[in-house]
Amino acid sequence: MIETSQVGIGHAYAKAILLGEHTVVHGTPAIAFPLPALPVRAVARRGTSGYVPDGHLRFVAGQTDTGTRSGPHVAVDAALSRWGVAAGPVEVTVECEIPLARGLGSSAACAGAAVRAVADLFDHELDLAALYEFVQCGEQVAHGRASGIDASAVLAAGPIWFESGSSRPLAVGLDASIVIADTGAAGSTAHAVAGVRAKLAADQLAANRLLCEAADLIAAGAHELAGSTAGHAVALGKTMVAFQELLAELGVSTPGIDTLVSAALDAGALGAKLTGAGLGGCVIALTWPAEADAVSAALRHAGAVRTWTVSTDSLRAAPPSLSDTRPERDRKL
Ligand code: MEV
Repeated sequence: MIETSQVGIGHAYAKAILLGEHTVVHGTPAIAFPLPALPVRAVARRGTSGYVPDGHLRFVAGQTDTGTRSGPHVAVDAALSRWGVAAGPVEVTVECEIPLARGLGSSAACAGAAVRAVADLFDHELDLAALYEFVQCGEQVAHGRASGIDASAVLAAGPIWFESGSSRPLAVGLDASIVIADTGAAGSTAHAVAGVRAKLAADQLAANRLLCEAADLIAAGAHELAGSTAGHAVALGKTMVAFQELLAELGVSTPGIDTLVSAALDAGALGAKLTGAGLGGCVIALTWPAEADAVSAALRHAGAVRTWTVSTDSLRAAPPSLSDTRPERDRKL
């Protein structure tokens, strides 16, 4: 039985990394943006109902003997213990529309929405820096050594430049479309990150060359994203392709990813690469708006299990209800 009728609600969104996955773990910057088309909604209650709606993640936070905990559970426990507010269990249910293990930030988004829901329940002021810190506690459990790019991007109001644990908003001047395609294969971020670390450690000279090259591409990408000419879009496409080559060299591409990248480029995309940790997961393609449908169809024809298209224009607008870290303050039931 629920002990009180008070309910807290929180939201977050999926993310996509445009440039810098993996190398960001080793000190380069990265560029990412939230995907409001793929939301997460969390509900927090005092007490426990034991009821789990179909397809929802459920956990009971604020307890001492919890056994193995998911990333979102760890994030909420970290928040509750910091605030010292929970006298008794807090039940959190999370409805996640983000496909899991596809490099779209599902674990960070679930943790972000869950901590927001609990903050709402306890009427606790939550600034973005504290929220990021709690989500990162969960991410360290889910991914091992997480750079923080996922935690930052799922909480962001638009595209970000992420570097050394902090982020700033990034200007978008381009008029283009971004198509994201799911290979249908689940990837393990922890596994992929460990593989890249081993690869870089095996040859320090090659690692330095690769990371310098990555940093140059990411800096160029930010400049190209901010530009408003056709030339900037074409250049960003080439930068993405060069980054994909670098990720392949790091060992995180797969035949499934390569097939989708080639299909997008053959269909007229300006650039395409994997997004997220790779070894499965998703591909991201940059296209002219008029070509987006054709690129999306080609990706599905080549085996993508689903695709999503976003315009660069929509990236400029803050996602609904995330401009404030307490988005649903007035929705206490
Ligand atoms: C995962 O979305 C991004 C990685 O770079 C890992 C990380 O930065 O924590 C692969």
